[in-house]
Amino acid sequence: MATTDVALQIRPVAPTLGASVRGIDVRTIDDATFELVRDAFREHRLLVIKDQSLSPEELMAWGERWGDLLVHPLTPHIDGFPSVQAIQNTGKKTTINEHWHTDMSFEPRPPKMTILHALAVPELGGDTAFSDQHAAYDSLSDGLKAMLDGLQAVHAAVGLARIVGKDPRDAPRAVHPVVRTHPDTGRKALYVCRAFTQHFEHMTGSESRGLLEFLYERSYRPDFTHRHKWEQGDLVMWDNRSLLHYAIHDHGDDPRLLHRITVQGEVPV
Ligand code: SIN
Repeated sequence: MATTDVALQIRPVAPTLGASVRGIDVRTIDDATFELVRDAFREHRLLVIKDQSLSPEELMAWGERWGDLLVHPLTPHIDGFPSVQAIQNTGKKTTINEHWHTDMSFEPRPPKMTILHALAVPELGGDTAFSDQHAAYDSLSDGLKAMLDGLQAVHAAVGLARIVGKDPRDAPRAVHPVVRTHPDTGRKALYVCRAFTQHFEHMTGSESRGLLEFLYERSYRPDFTHRHKWEQGDLVMWDNRSLLHYAIHDHGDDPRLLHRITVQGEVPV
């Protein structure tokens, strides 16, 4: 449902996920308005806060209102700000985010939230797609839900380690439930992704592949997705516990520069 405060405007952008937020400056909002934004995040799980102009310090201050900021174990940060990364267009061949994933699921406590601030965006293309993993889980049959209950999967940053020149055998890895329960709402979500999930625990890769492929296909069915078209100043934040995302690289060499922070989450259960 749309909410309207005196200045704050929150409007859904897709049937199952996402809302745009207008009329606030995140540098100065008071606690009461922050609570409204928090409620909207819980309900929509993807917020696009329009027209923000933030230095790295101000971006970090916004992130810290939501929890502790993380430092990425493999990929670089901007000078002087260990928790802030720059996502830049280095070309399609070197992009590392053009696949469906939930951020850093190879960590024992993956980030509950990722926040991106758009500093430069292509005129056309460079969208980020999001997919609702509550909807994906809800769409499964009762028989498959029962089979997945209690199943765990191994996640590892194997591809990322290779890209940054590290031995993939030393890549960070973690074991998580295939279906996780959202700590705020109690809703269940599929929690596997092609980028990081390696195999089911206690099973080989080839034993796991068929069912994992089925779950991947289901996880980004078009009716569960929303595609965000970036505008400069967008501050986009999403819930990694219930959404996958995919950075579409269709903008050639056009500049695209986003600052990125992640906020510590819980051990998935
Ligand atoms: C990410 O995968 O964290 C970044 C997404 C994007 O560049 O749109």
